[in-house]
Amino acid sequence: MSSIVIEPKRLRGEITLPPDKSISHRAIIIGSLACGKTQVKNLSVCEDCLRTIDAFRSMGVAITKSKGIFCIQGKGLNGLRKPGVKLYLGNSGTSMRLILGVLAGQRFSCELSGDASLSKRPMKRVTEPLSLMGAKIRGSDGAQFAPLTIRGGALRPICYETPVASAQVKSAVLLAGLYAEGATKVTEPAKSRDHTERMLKKFGADISVEGLLVCVKGRANLIAKVVDVPGDISSASFFLAGACISKGSQITVKSVGLNPTRTAFLKLLQQMGASISWKYQNSKMAGKGYNDEAKGEVRARCSPLKGPTIAPEQIPSLIDELPILMVAATQSEGETAIQGAGELRLKETDRIKAMVSNLTRMGADIRSCGDDIIIRGPSRLAGTTVDSFNDHRTAMSMVIAGLIARGRTTIKDIDCINISFPGFFDTLSRLVC
Ligand code: S3P
Repeated sequence: MSSIVIEPKRLRGEITLPPDKSISHRAIIIGSLACGKTQVKNLSVCEDCLRTIDAFRSMGVAITKSKGIFCIQGKGLNGLRKPGVKLYLGNSGTSMRLILGVLAGQRFSCELSGDASLSKRPMKRVTEPLSLMGAKIRGSDGAQFAPLTIRGGALRPICYETPVASAQVKSAVLLAGLYAEGATKVTEPAKSRDHTERMLKKFGADISVEGLLVCVKGRANLIAKVVDVPGDISSASFFLAGACISKGSQITVKSVGLNPTRTAFLKLLQQMGASISWKYQNSKMAGKGYNDEAKGEVRARCSPLKGPTIAPEQIPSLIDELPILMVAATQSEGETAIQGAGELRLKETDRIKAMVSNLTRMGADIRSCGDDIIIRGPSRLAGTTVDSFNDHRTAMSMVIAGLIARGRTTIKDIDCINISFPGFFDTLSRLVC
């Protein structure tokens, strides 16, 4: 496992980001279930998305790449075949939860497993609704943990209120709903990312959205489409936050996804006083009723920040950006309070514990109190050795912390960055000066 040493630097220049991971997973999954040839421009080849590609290849879907474009030869809703092997989904919670939704509708049984981290992540949040629909799922602690065995079949539609706002849970139920006769309805307590809804609509599913309620009618054929995946806004967040807090920095991020369910972090930075602005390349896509993804350009420049209070209902729309927000908060005037962030404890690692431990080592005034995090700033961080805890977002957040710290910061075990962002250090090297 490799480590890296980071020294203080500012960020200047223009970058494009790797393709959005969430949208890429959905393009592979929905393209595989559609009739005909789906072409995907700019598909993510991060480790998590490769696990989804491998899984559908094992179920008989031909997925090839030519001249930078992925071609998915869709099998239709009922064309997948029983894989000859156990589906290994590595570190990827999105792969496991969404694929469980698809498998719930298949008339074969299948075993799914993951790495040590994925095997500790809660799966009952999806196995429970899928069981209510009629899937038979086995796994330890009442189908809470992988490895899991699922036998799908004739599904009944359900009206399901998810206890957590999770796009993965919502998507698993909606994908299973494609196989149920009648209307499957999901209501979530707060809005989570809506890429599944948009893409299903684009591919011709009978799906409607009203506020927090999504309804899909099963058994409609999906038709192959051309998908163009925008840059990943969550990957951009590391550099954008870095530019906001590192003196003399100014960056532009091009062609990045600006889906309205993913821009809460940009708005939050603005509310904190950051000099950050964005403009849409295809503004109408940002609106309701559109089934494509908005993208555009974001500019950020260093300016003084003020610590915000983040209420529990804001957490779902900021979930992947909270680790880097904690770094930005150490440089913000006053108190940052992040309330009710318990979902962070259930990610690839316990991200509250990981970030509090790392930033404390660097001299930040940060503490957790239950599932709340309190940070007082600004504080001058000092370089030391910190740990990725084998979590990609913790690792990238700590690299940015290293850029603004005094002295040298060593981040251990950084290979995990490839989970979402192969090429992170190449992008960083284009900006540092
Ligand atoms: C994702 C949803 C989020 C997010 C994850 C990707 C998705 O998880 O943290 O990185 O693509 O649906 P939850 O839905 O569990 O909050």
